[in-house]
Parts: sequence; C-alpha cells; structure tokens
Amino acid sequence: MTGFSADWLSLREPADAAARDTTLTARLGALTRERARSRFIDLGCGTGANLRYLAPRIGGLQEWLLVDRDESLLARVGEIPGCTIHTRCVDLTSGLESFALDGDVVVTASALLDLVSDRWLTHLISRCHESRAAALFALSYDGRITCEPVDADDEWIRQLVNLHQRGDKGFGPALGPKAAERACELFSGFGYEVHSALSDWHLQPRDSELQRALIEEWATAAAELAGGESDRCLAWRQRRLNHVARGASRITVGHLDVLALPGSFAG
Ligand SMILES: C[S@@+](CC[C@H](N)C(=O)[O-])C[C@H]1O[C@@H](n2cnc3c(N)ncnc32)[C@H](O)[C@@H]1O
Repeated sequence: MTGFSADWLSLREPADAAARDTTLTARLGALTRERARSRFIDLGCGTGANLRYLAPRIGGLQEWLLVDRDESLLARVGEIPGCTIHTRCVDLTSGLESFALDGDVVVTASALLDLVSDRWLTHLISRCHESRAAALFALSYDGRITCEPVDADDEWIRQLVNLHQRGDKGFGPALGPKAAERACELFSGFGYEVHSALSDWHLQPRDSELQRALIEEWATAAAELAGGESDRCLAWRQRRLNHVARGASRITVGHLDVLALPGSFAG
C-alpha cells in the first residue's frame, strides 16, 4: 500500500471523516448555502473523500472541480445527488495556473497541505486572495503522534518521521507539520478571517489495519533517516505491531483543519 494508493485512501477515509472538525464545515455550509449554487475546487482530491464528506453536510446545489495528477484515482470519484462534478488530471506542482479561481469559489483540500512547499502554498494563497476565494484545508498532519502502550523509542521515531515529512514530496521542500500553521499565517496576512481546529485521529484497537499501515509507513520513513540505526527502527516496528496484534494499541495522530474566509464570505 503506497501513500496515495486507492487502498490507502479508502482505509483512511472513515478515520478522516470521524476526525474532521464539524464546526468549520457547518460554518462554511451556512455561508455557501446563501448562494443559488456553491462552487468548490478540491486540490489533490484522490478518489473524492473530501467531496463525499463535505457535499452532504454543505447542502444546496453544488458544482465541484476535482483535481489530481492520478487518473486512476479520479476514475473512482462517484456521483453525489445535488452535485455537478467535474474531474481534471493536473500535476499541481506546475499546473496551478491551469484553472481559474474566480470570485465565489471555495478552494478546498484534504490531507494535501503537509506535502507542499512554502513557496507553493504562498503562491496558492496569493491566488486565493487575488480572487477573494474562501478556503477549507482539512486534515493537515501537525507533527503530533502518541502511542499506547508507550515505547521508549516512540519519541525518537516521531522526530525522524517529522524530519522525513519535511523532505521533497514533488512540490519542493515540504512544509510537513508546519503547513496548517503557515496557511493560517499567510491568510491572516491577507486580512482573511481564519479559524483552525484540531482534527486528530484517535485510533482504537478495532482500527488495527490502519494502525498497522501507519506503523509500517513510519518505520520505513524513520529507517531512511536513521543512519546506521535502521535495525532499531525495525525493532520498534515489531514491538508496536505486537501491541496491535494483542488488541492493546491506541494511536493518536495530530491534524489541523483550517477555514479561511475573505471579507466577502465572512459577511
Ligand atoms: C494524502 S492523498 C489525499 C487524497 C484526498 N484528498 C483524501 O483526503 O483522500 C494526497 C493526494 O494528492 C495527490 N497529489 C500528490 N501530488 C500531487 C501533484 N503534484 N499534483 C496533483 N495531485 C497530487 C495524490 O495523487 C493524492 O491523491
């Protein structure tokens, strides 16, 4: 299972839906429902999880443009009553200019921001500002991981994972855990009304498949940066997988949701 595979996206979708902050969605919905038809652009949409979460909660007539560089993920985006849905295959590292962000559009993304660079995010948010677009960026990883039962190497692994998060994910050096905070700073600088809220995953023993996938991903990322200590990463991985197998493992992963409203939206 890779970072953007359809299997991984469908495994995380229920945890994402349970974690997202409902007040930010409700606030956006209350504002967009005042319009005859609300319009959204979902960046890095994958198979459409953000659309599936937001559309029924926003309500009213909606028009969506879903953008991803992976045609096979876009092919899995389904229909939703009340929504006109368009998809477009675009590499966002270079293709941000290929669609218009005009006046009343809401720019949204889920689980994308931590992949992008400061330069790319600054450009995106400048474009939102120029067109007075609102934005909802959900589920940006913020660097917090806690595991139960506690292991002496949890903190060491977390630090290596967070270092790995800052590597280049195609957009230049990634903001990683700093992404949501940086988005708030940039939107505030443009005079937006900015709201942020925690959207942490609280994974329980029943979420064993997702826990196992995370442990594998973190151990691999940590081992890439652990120098001569990759065996230590493997040993941590095995201890954590044993806790999952015993039904004793709980994992919290920190995320942030950000809603940014220009004056015309915030009313
Ligand atoms: C972590 S997934 C999140 C997907 C979806 N938003 C969700 O919440 O399930 C990140 C998504 O960004 C897309 N992506 C990554 N780099 C991209 C790029 N350079 N251009 C367009 N999409 C990209 C991936 O294909 C993937 O679908």
